[in-house]
Amino acid sequence: MEGRRSIRSWGPWALVFFPLVAGVYGVDFNYPAVFNFGDSNSDSGNLVAGVGDRLEPPNGQTFFKRPSGRFCDGRLIVDFLMDAMDLPLLNAYLEAIGVPNFNKGSNFAAAGSTVLPATAASVCPFSFGIQVAQFLRFKSHVLELLGGKFDKFLPRSDYFHQGLYMFDIGQNDLAGAFYSKTEDQVIASIPVILAEFETGIKKLHEEGARRFWIHNTGPLGCLAQNIAKFGTDPSKLDELGCVGSHNRAAKLFNLQLHALCKKLSGSFTDANVTYVDIFSIKLDLIANYTRYGFEQPIQVCCGNGGAPLNYDSRISCGQTKDLNGTAVTVKACQDPSEYVNWDGIHYTEAANRHVSNQILTGKYSDPPFSDKMPFLLKLKF
Ligand SMILES: *[C@@H]1O[C@H](CO)[C@@H](O)[C@H](O)[C@H]1NC(C)=O
Ligand SMILES: *[C@@H]1O[C@H](CO)[C@@H](O)[C@H](O)[C@H]1NC(C)=O
Ligand SMILES: *[C@@H]1O[C@H](CO)[C@@H](O)[C@H](O)[C@H]1NC(C)=O
Repeated sequence: MEGRRSIRSWGPWALVFFPLVAGVYGVDFNYPAVFNFGDSNSDSGNLVAGVGDRLEPPNGQTFFKRPSGRFCDGRLIVDFLMDAMDLPLLNAYLEAIGVPNFNKGSNFAAAGSTVLPATAASVCPFSFGIQVAQFLRFKSHVLELLGGKFDKFLPRSDYFHQGLYMFDIGQNDLAGAFYSKTEDQVIASIPVILAEFETGIKKLHEEGARRFWIHNTGPLGCLAQNIAKFGTDPSKLDELGCVGSHNRAAKLFNLQLHALCKKLSGSFTDANVTYVDIFSIKLDLIANYTRYGFEQPIQVCCGNGGAPLNYDSRISCGQTKDLNGTAVTVKACQDPSEYVNWDGIHYTEAANRHVSNQILTGKYSDPPFSDKMPFLLKLKF
Protein backbone atom coordinates (compact mmCIF):
# COMPACT_ATOMS: atom_id res chain seq x y z
CA MET A 1 0.00 0.00 0.00
CA GLU A 2 2.86 2.28 0.94
CA GLY A 3 4.12 2.21 -2.63
CA ARG A 4 0.86 3.24 -4.23
CA ARG A 5 1.68 6.91 -4.29
CA SER A 6 5.43 6.50 -3.93
CA ILE A 7 7.56 7.54 -6.87
CA ARG A 8 10.11 5.04 -5.57
CA SER A 9 7.99 2.21 -6.89
CA TRP A 10 7.70 3.55 -10.41
CA GLY A 11 11.02 2.10 -11.50
CA PRO A 12 13.57 3.59 -13.88
CA TRP A 13 10.94 4.77 -16.38
CA ALA A 14 9.96 7.45 -13.92
CA LEU A 15 13.41 8.95 -14.32
CA VAL A 16 12.59 9.65 -17.93
CA PHE A 17 8.93 10.53 -17.73
CA PHE A 18 8.33 11.84 -14.27
CA PRO A 19 9.58 15.40 -14.75
CA LEU A 20 7.80 15.61 -18.09
CA VAL A 21 4.55 14.18 -16.84
CA ALA A 22 4.10 15.85 -13.52
CA GLY A 23 6.74 18.51 -13.19
CA VAL A 24 7.13 17.35 -9.61
CA TYR A 25 10.54 18.17 -8.18
CA GLY A 26 10.81 20.79 -10.90
CA VAL A 27 12.70 22.92 -8.53
CA ASP A 28 16.10 24.25 -7.60
CA PHE A 29 16.01 23.18 -4.01
CA ASN A 30 19.55 23.00 -2.81
CA TYR A 31 20.75 24.16 0.58
CA PRO A 32 23.60 22.95 2.80
CA ALA A 33 21.53 23.06 6.00
CA VAL A 34 18.06 23.82 7.33
CA PHE A 35 16.95 25.62 10.48
CA ASN A 36 13.29 24.95 11.12
CA PHE A 37 10.80 26.75 13.39
CA GLY A 38 7.17 25.92 14.02
CA ASP A 39 4.53 23.79 15.71
CA SER A 40 3.52 20.13 15.47
CA ASN A 41 3.28 20.42 11.70
CA SER A 42 7.08 20.17 11.74
CA ASP A 43 8.09 19.09 15.27
CA SER A 44 10.49 16.12 15.09
CA GLY A 45 10.66 15.65 18.87
CA ASN A 46 11.04 18.93 20.76
CA LEU A 47 7.79 18.88 22.71
CA VAL A 48 8.24 15.31 23.95
CA ALA A 49 11.91 15.90 24.81
CA GLY A 50 11.36 19.36 26.26
CA VAL A 51 8.44 18.69 28.55
CA GLY A 52 9.07 14.98 29.12
CA ASP A 53 5.84 14.04 27.38
CA ARG A 54 5.17 10.65 25.84
CA LEU A 55 3.78 9.72 22.47
CA GLU A 56 2.45 6.17 22.31
CA PRO A 57 2.30 3.76 19.39
CA PRO A 58 0.75 3.65 16.80
CA ASN A 59 2.38 7.08 16.34
CA GLY A 60 5.36 6.48 14.07
CA GLN A 61 4.19 3.05 12.91
CA THR A 62 4.32 3.64 9.16
CA PHE A 63 7.91 4.82 8.84
CA PHE A 64 9.87 4.90 12.09
CA LYS A 65 8.19 1.75 13.49
CA ARG A 66 8.03 3.45 16.90
CA PRO A 67 6.94 6.87 18.21
CA SER A 68 9.48 9.34 16.82
CA GLY A 69 8.43 12.53 18.58
CA ARG A 70 6.24 13.36 15.60
CA PHE A 71 2.45 13.57 15.88
CA CYS A 72 1.97 11.35 12.85
CA ASP A 73 2.10 7.74 11.70
CA GLY A 74 5.30 8.57 9.84
CA ARG A 75 7.08 11.48 8.22
CA LEU A 76 6.13 15.14 8.21
CA ILE A 77 6.29 17.65 5.37
CA VAL A 78 9.66 18.88 6.65
CA ASP A 79 11.01 15.32 6.50
CA PHE A 80 10.03 14.94 2.86
CA LEU A 81 11.51 18.35 2.04
CA MET A 82 14.80 17.38 3.72
CA ASP A 83 14.75 14.22 1.63
CA ALA A 84 14.23 16.26 -1.53
CA MET A 85 17.28 18.34 -0.58
CA ASP A 86 19.29 15.16 -0.05
CA LEU A 87 19.73 16.06 3.59
CA PRO A 88 19.21 13.80 6.63
CA LEU A 89 16.12 14.26 8.78
CA LEU A 90 16.49 17.17 11.18
CA ASN A 91 17.43 16.50 14.77
CA ALA A 92 15.19 18.13 17.33
CA TYR A 93 17.20 20.81 19.15
CA LEU A 94 16.06 19.60 22.58
CA GLU A 95 16.68 15.88 22.00
CA ALA A 96 19.88 15.07 23.89
CA ILE A 97 19.82 11.27 23.65
CA GLY A 98 21.23 9.23 20.76
CA VAL A 99 24.24 11.23 19.48
CA PRO A 100 22.26 14.12 18.05
CA ASN A 101 23.83 15.41 14.85
CA PHE A 102 23.30 19.04 13.86
CA ASN A 103 25.70 19.06 10.92
CA LYS A 104 22.89 19.80 8.42
CA GLY A 105 20.84 22.02 10.67
CA SER A 106 18.51 21.88 13.61
CA ASN A 107 14.79 21.77 14.26
CA PHE A 108 13.36 24.15 16.87
CA ALA A 109 9.68 23.47 16.10
CA ALA A 110 7.62 22.25 19.04
CA ALA A 111 4.12 20.79 19.01
CA GLY A 112 1.48 23.02 20.55
CA SER A 113 3.60 26.14 20.18
CA THR A 114 2.22 29.53 19.27
CA VAL A 115 3.70 32.65 17.73
CA LEU A 116 2.52 34.68 20.73
CA PRO A 117 4.30 34.04 24.04
CA ALA A 118 3.11 30.99 25.95
CA THR A 119 1.05 31.36 29.11
CA ALA A 120 0.72 29.06 32.11
CA ALA A 121 -2.19 27.40 30.31
CA SER A 122 -0.23 26.70 27.10
CA VAL A 123 0.38 23.13 25.93
CA CYS A 124 3.91 24.10 24.99
CA PRO A 125 6.27 26.64 26.57
CA PHE A 126 8.45 26.91 23.43
CA SER A 127 6.67 29.70 21.58
CA PHE A 128 8.22 31.37 18.52
CA GLY A 129 10.25 33.92 20.50
CA ILE A 130 11.76 31.11 22.59
CA GLN A 131 12.54 29.10 19.45
CA VAL A 132 14.38 32.11 18.01
CA ALA A 133 16.24 32.55 21.32
CA GLN A 134 17.14 28.86 21.27
CA PHE A 135 18.51 29.32 17.76
CA LEU A 136 20.63 32.31 18.84
CA ARG A 137 22.04 30.27 21.70
CA PHE A 138 22.59 27.31 19.33
CA LYS A 139 24.43 29.48 16.84
CA SER A 140 26.72 31.16 19.36
CA HIS A 141 27.50 27.84 21.00
CA VAL A 142 28.29 26.24 17.62
CA LEU A 143 30.61 29.13 16.72
CA GLU A 144 32.43 28.66 20.03
CA LEU A 145 32.85 24.91 19.53
CA LEU A 146 33.81 24.90 15.83
CA GLY A 147 37.43 23.98 15.18
CA GLY A 148 37.36 21.32 17.88
CA LYS A 149 36.55 17.64 18.09
CA PHE A 150 32.80 18.07 17.56
CA ASP A 151 32.96 19.56 14.06
CA LYS A 152 31.28 16.64 12.33
CA PHE A 153 28.21 17.13 14.53
CA LEU A 154 27.96 20.87 13.97
CA PRO A 155 26.96 23.06 11.03
CA ARG A 156 29.83 24.92 9.36
CA SER A 157 29.86 28.62 10.18
CA ASP A 158 28.90 29.59 6.59
CA TYR A 159 25.78 27.39 6.80
CA PHE A 160 24.15 30.05 8.96
CA HIS A 161 24.19 32.35 5.91
CA GLN A 162 23.57 29.74 3.24
CA GLY A 163 21.09 27.55 5.06
CA LEU A 164 17.34 27.59 4.58
CA TYR A 165 15.26 29.03 7.43
CA MET A 166 11.85 27.35 7.37
CA PHE A 167 8.72 28.36 9.27
CA ASP A 168 5.32 26.76 9.82
CA ILE A 169 3.58 28.36 12.78
CA GLY A 170 0.38 30.24 13.61
CA GLN A 171 -2.17 27.43 13.54
CA ASN A 172 -2.27 27.12 17.33
CA ASP A 173 -2.65 30.87 17.82
CA LEU A 174 -5.80 30.79 15.70
CA ALA A 175 -7.23 27.45 16.81
CA GLY A 176 -6.60 28.26 20.48
CA ALA A 177 -8.15 31.71 20.23
CA PHE A 178 -11.50 30.30 19.07
CA TYR A 179 -12.01 28.67 22.48
CA SER A 180 -12.34 32.07 24.18
CA LYS A 181 -12.96 34.61 21.39
CA THR A 182 -15.53 35.38 18.74
CA GLU A 183 -14.62 35.13 15.08
CA ASP A 184 -14.26 38.93 14.87
CA GLN A 185 -11.97 38.97 17.89
CA VAL A 186 -9.83 36.18 16.46
CA ILE A 187 -9.53 38.10 13.19
CA ALA A 188 -8.68 41.29 15.08
CA SER A 189 -5.79 39.46 16.81
CA ILE A 190 -4.07 38.48 13.55
CA PRO A 191 -1.94 41.66 13.23
CA VAL A 192 -0.70 41.15 16.80
CA ILE A 193 0.35 37.58 16.02
CA LEU A 194 2.09 38.66 12.83
CA ALA A 195 3.89 41.54 14.54
CA GLU A 196 5.44 39.02 16.91
CA PHE A 197 6.33 36.79 13.96
CA GLU A 198 7.98 39.73 12.17
CA THR A 199 10.07 40.50 15.26
CA GLY A 200 11.46 36.97 15.25
CA ILE A 201 12.18 36.98 11.51
CA LYS A 202 14.00 40.31 11.79
CA LYS A 203 16.10 39.00 14.66
CA LEU A 204 17.13 36.02 12.53
CA HIS A 205 17.95 38.33 9.63
CA GLU A 206 20.14 40.46 11.91
CA GLU A 207 21.91 37.23 12.86
CA GLY A 208 22.68 36.46 9.22
CA ALA A 209 19.73 34.41 7.97
CA ARG A 210 19.25 35.11 4.24
CA ARG A 211 16.97 32.40 2.90
CA PHE A 212 13.49 32.38 4.39
CA TRP A 213 10.87 29.79 3.50
CA ILE A 214 7.51 30.51 5.12
CA HIS A 215 4.54 28.13 5.07
CA ASN A 216 1.12 29.68 5.51
CA THR A 217 -1.41 28.03 7.77
CA GLY A 218 -3.70 25.18 6.71
CA PRO A 219 -7.51 24.93 6.63
CA LEU A 220 -7.88 24.34 10.36
CA GLY A 221 -11.65 24.29 10.05
CA CYS A 222 -11.27 20.90 8.32
CA LEU A 223 -9.61 19.27 11.35
CA ALA A 224 -11.86 16.86 13.26
CA GLN A 225 -10.83 18.46 16.56
CA ASN A 226 -12.38 21.77 15.46
CA ILE A 227 -15.36 20.20 13.70
CA ALA A 228 -16.21 18.20 16.84
CA LYS A 229 -16.06 21.30 19.03
CA PHE A 230 -17.34 24.07 16.77
CA GLY A 231 -19.28 22.26 14.04
CA THR A 232 -22.05 20.49 15.93
CA ASP A 233 -24.53 22.96 14.39
CA PRO A 234 -24.52 22.03 10.66
CA SER A 235 -25.08 25.69 9.69
CA LYS A 236 -21.51 26.36 10.86
CA LEU A 237 -20.10 23.93 8.30
CA ASP A 238 -19.20 24.73 4.70
CA GLU A 239 -19.77 22.53 1.64
CA LEU A 240 -16.75 20.37 2.49
CA GLY A 241 -17.95 19.81 6.07
CA CYS A 242 -15.32 22.18 7.50
CA VAL A 243 -15.94 24.87 10.13
CA GLY A 244 -16.41 28.09 8.17
CA SER A 245 -15.20 30.52 10.84
CA HIS A 246 -11.88 28.73 11.28
CA ASN A 247 -11.16 28.60 7.55
CA ARG A 248 -12.12 32.25 7.11
CA ALA A 249 -9.70 33.21 9.90
CA ALA A 250 -6.98 31.03 8.36
CA LYS A 251 -7.49 32.76 4.99
CA LEU A 252 -7.27 36.23 6.51
CA PHE A 253 -4.19 35.21 8.48
CA ASN A 254 -2.62 33.97 5.25
CA LEU A 255 -3.46 37.15 3.32
CA GLN A 256 -1.71 39.21 5.96
CA LEU A 257 1.18 36.76 6.24
CA HIS A 258 1.62 36.97 2.47
CA ALA A 259 1.67 40.77 2.66
CA LEU A 260 4.26 40.58 5.44
CA CYS A 261 6.42 38.29 3.30
CA LYS A 262 6.24 40.81 0.43
CA LYS A 263 7.17 43.61 2.80
CA LEU A 264 10.13 41.69 4.25
CA SER A 265 11.21 40.70 0.78
CA GLY A 266 11.29 44.39 -0.15
CA SER A 267 13.11 45.53 2.96
CA PHE A 268 15.68 42.67 3.04
CA THR A 269 17.49 43.52 -0.17
CA ASP A 270 20.12 40.88 0.62
CA ALA A 271 17.70 38.03 1.36
CA ASN A 272 15.07 35.87 -0.31
CA VAL A 273 11.69 35.31 1.26
CA THR A 274 9.53 32.53 -0.17
CA TYR A 275 5.88 32.26 0.86
CA VAL A 276 4.33 28.81 0.42
CA ASP A 277 0.57 28.34 0.14
CA ILE A 278 0.01 25.21 2.21
CA PHE A 279 -3.65 26.18 2.70
CA SER A 280 -4.49 25.71 -0.99
CA ILE A 281 -2.62 22.42 -1.21
CA LYS A 282 -4.39 20.98 1.85
CA LEU A 283 -7.84 22.28 0.87
CA ASP A 284 -7.45 20.85 -2.62
CA LEU A 285 -6.45 17.51 -1.05
CA ILE A 286 -9.54 17.54 1.19
CA ALA A 287 -11.89 18.61 -1.61
CA ASN A 288 -10.45 16.35 -4.31
CA TYR A 289 -9.21 13.46 -2.17
CA THR A 290 -10.38 10.65 -4.44
CA ARG A 291 -8.32 12.02 -7.31
CA TYR A 292 -5.23 11.81 -5.09
CA GLY A 293 -5.91 8.22 -4.04
CA PHE A 294 -7.43 8.82 -0.61
CA GLU A 295 -10.69 7.49 0.79
CA GLN A 296 -11.24 9.65 3.87
CA PRO A 297 -10.66 13.42 3.73
CA ILE A 298 -11.71 14.31 7.29
CA GLN A 299 -12.46 11.17 9.30
CA VAL A 300 -9.63 10.40 11.71
CA CYS A 301 -7.49 7.28 11.26
CA CYS A 302 -6.28 7.01 14.87
CA GLY A 303 -9.29 8.11 16.88
CA ASN A 304 -12.25 7.01 18.94
CA GLY A 305 -16.01 7.21 18.45
CA GLY A 306 -16.58 5.93 14.93
CA ALA A 307 -17.96 7.68 11.85
CA PRO A 308 -18.38 10.36 10.75
CA LEU A 309 -15.39 11.96 12.54
CA ASN A 310 -14.00 9.10 14.65
CA TYR A 311 -12.70 11.79 16.99
CA ASP A 312 -13.03 12.01 20.77
CA SER A 313 -11.50 14.98 22.57
CA ARG A 314 -11.22 12.98 25.79
CA ILE A 315 -8.64 10.54 24.47
CA SER A 316 -5.85 10.84 21.92
CA CYS A 317 -4.15 8.47 19.50
CA GLY A 318 -2.41 5.62 21.33
CA GLN A 319 -3.82 6.48 24.74
CA THR A 320 -5.62 4.05 27.02
CA LYS A 321 -8.23 5.52 29.36
CA ASP A 322 -11.24 4.57 31.34
CA LEU A 323 -14.25 6.15 29.64
CA ASN A 324 -17.49 5.71 31.51
CA GLY A 325 -16.30 2.50 33.12
CA THR A 326 -14.86 0.95 29.96
CA ALA A 327 -11.10 0.83 29.22
CA VAL A 328 -10.56 2.27 25.76
CA THR A 329 -7.31 2.20 23.74
CA VAL A 330 -7.18 4.37 20.65
CA LYS A 331 -5.81 2.36 17.74
CA ALA A 332 -5.04 3.19 14.13
CA CYS A 333 -7.26 2.40 11.18
CA GLN A 334 -6.38 -0.55 8.95
CA ASP A 335 -4.64 1.51 6.26
CA PRO A 336 -3.52 5.03 7.20
CA SER A 337 -2.57 5.75 3.58
CA GLU A 338 -6.31 5.91 2.77
CA TYR A 339 -6.75 8.74 5.30
CA VAL A 340 -5.77 12.39 5.03
CA ASN A 341 -6.00 12.88 8.78
CA TRP A 342 -4.10 10.90 11.37
CA ASP A 343 -5.38 11.92 14.81
CA GLY A 344 -7.88 14.74 14.37
CA ILE A 345 -5.25 17.50 14.36
CA HIS A 346 -2.37 16.19 12.27
CA TYR A 347 -2.08 14.76 8.77
CA THR A 348 -1.00 11.22 7.89
CA GLU A 349 2.35 10.50 6.31
CA ALA A 350 0.55 9.80 3.02
CA ALA A 351 -1.03 13.27 3.14
CA ASN A 352 2.27 14.88 4.12
CA ARG A 353 3.95 13.20 1.16
CA HIS A 354 1.26 14.59 -1.14
CA VAL A 355 1.63 18.11 0.30
CA SER A 356 5.43 17.96 -0.10
CA ASN A 357 5.16 16.81 -3.69
CA GLN A 358 2.82 19.71 -4.39
CA ILE A 359 5.21 22.17 -2.71
CA LEU A 360 8.01 20.85 -4.89
CA THR A 361 6.11 21.63 -8.09
CA GLY A 362 6.85 25.24 -7.23
CA LYS A 363 3.34 26.27 -8.23
CA TYR A 364 2.27 27.14 -4.71
CA SER A 365 5.09 29.45 -3.75
CA ASP A 366 5.67 33.12 -4.20
CA PRO A 367 8.01 33.77 -5.86
CA PRO A 368 7.28 30.58 -7.84
CA PHE A 369 10.18 28.44 -8.90
CA SER A 370 8.65 25.92 -11.31
CA ASP A 371 10.47 27.49 -14.22
CA LYS A 372 13.88 26.97 -12.66
CA MET A 373 15.98 24.12 -14.03
CA PRO A 374 13.15 21.60 -14.29
CA PHE A 375 15.42 18.90 -15.67
CA LEU A 376 18.44 19.24 -13.43
CA LEU A 377 16.83 17.41 -10.61
CA LYS A 378 18.10 15.07 -8.03
CA LEU A 379 15.26 12.61 -8.40
CA LYS A 380 15.18 10.12 -5.59
CA PHE A 381 14.01 6.54 -5.75
C1 LIG B 1 17.98 35.13 -4.08
O1 LIG B 1 17.45 34.69 -5.32
C2 LIG B 1 18.15 35.14 -6.44
C3 LIG B 1 17.39 34.70 -7.68
O2 LIG B 1 17.18 33.32 -7.66
C4 LIG B 1 19.57 34.62 -6.39
O3 LIG B 1 20.32 35.07 -7.50
C5 LIG B 1 20.23 35.06 -5.08
O4 LIG B 1 21.52 34.46 -4.98
C6 LIG B 1 19.40 34.66 -3.91
N1 LIG B 1 19.95 35.24 -2.68
C7 LIG B 1 20.14 34.52 -1.60
C8 LIG B 1 20.69 35.24 -0.42
O5 LIG B 1 19.88 33.33 -1.53
C1 LIG C 1 -10.68 20.55 -6.83
O1 LIG C 1 -10.28 20.30 -8.16
C2 LIG C 1 -10.86 21.15 -9.13
C3 LIG C 1 -10.47 20.64 -10.50
O2 LIG C 1 -9.09 20.65 -10.63
C4 LIG C 1 -10.38 22.56 -8.87
O3 LIG C 1 -10.96 23.46 -9.80
C5 LIG C 1 -10.79 22.98 -7.48
O4 LIG C 1 -10.26 24.25 -7.19
C6 LIG C 1 -10.26 21.96 -6.45
N1 LIG C 1 -10.80 22.31 -5.14
C7 LIG C 1 -10.06 22.93 -4.24
C8 LIG C 1 -10.76 23.28 -2.97
O5 LIG C 1 -8.90 23.23 -4.39
C1 LIG D 1 -20.75 8.92 30.09
O1 LIG D 1 -21.56 8.99 31.24
C2 LIG D 1 -22.15 10.25 31.45
C3 LIG D 1 -22.88 10.22 32.81
O2 LIG D 1 -23.61 9.02 32.92
C4 LIG D 1 -23.11 10.53 30.29
O3 LIG D 1 -23.71 11.80 30.48
C5 LIG D 1 -22.32 10.52 29.01
O4 LIG D 1 -23.18 10.70 27.90
C6 LIG D 1 -21.55 9.24 28.84
N1 LIG D 1 -20.70 9.35 27.70
C7 LIG D 1 -20.53 8.40 26.80
C8 LIG D 1 -19.62 8.70 25.68
O5 LIG D 1 -21.11 7.33 26.86
